[in-house]
Amino acid sequence: MTTDGDLKKRRAAQAALELVKDATTIGVGTGSTVNFFIEALAAHPGRVRRAVSSSAASSVRLRAAGVVVLDLNELSDLDLYVDGADEASAARHLIKGGGGALTREKIIAAAARRFICIVDDSKLVHTLGKFPLPIEVIPMARTLVARQLMAGGGRPVWREGFVTDNGNHILDVHGLSIADPVALERDLNQITGVVTVGLFAVRPADVLLVGTAQAVLTR
Ligand code: 5RP
Repeated sequence: MTTDGDLKKRRAAQAALELVKDATTIGVGTGSTVNFFIEALAAHPGRVRRAVSSSAASSVRLRAAGVVVLDLNELSDLDLYVDGADEASAARHLIKGGGGALTREKIIAAAARRFICIVDDSKLVHTLGKFPLPIEVIPMARTLVARQLMAGGGRPVWREGFVTDNGNHILDVHGLSIADPVALERDLNQITGVVTVGLFAVRPADVLLVGTAQAVLTR
């Protein structure tokens, strides 16, 4: 069944395809919105020949769409990265990692010259933090990191049973109201045992494509 949310996601994904006309190798993220983007790639064979993928799940879909999946280390250059988000602010700061692929997503975002984020309008927020902030941690440091997050006022919940593509665990931190995303990202990155913080503020999206019921807004 196709929902209104799916239509909005598909609209944003289609708009991203228009921006990748000249890119032969792109980065591709993870999630249901990105799946619509990969579907759009499959419908336009040859538009993108090669991609770096942020997850095993997206790699499978990309290959099925006829796109060659490369290791980032094989590239000296990455023009464009397309990915979704769990929350996005007007400053194009993001919370990501709902699908657990945040570490590879952050690496690809850092490598890409342009980061295009595709979301439906339910993801737009004034202040980040209603969506629990995913933090990938080294398994043996899980409770150590959790205690420090609690001391900072967060309520970390272990995403039990979930192991990332990198063999790590995820803590989803509830109860944050993120007034200064850049500062919080930097602070959380200092906690020993933290692999990746799902805040994308130090390196925000460059373009936000927001699918609505009527159109696609560009921020
Ligand atoms: C995965 C992500 C996704 O981009 C985020 O969870 C959004 O997913 P969806 O497009 O399914 O709403 O960060 O780690």
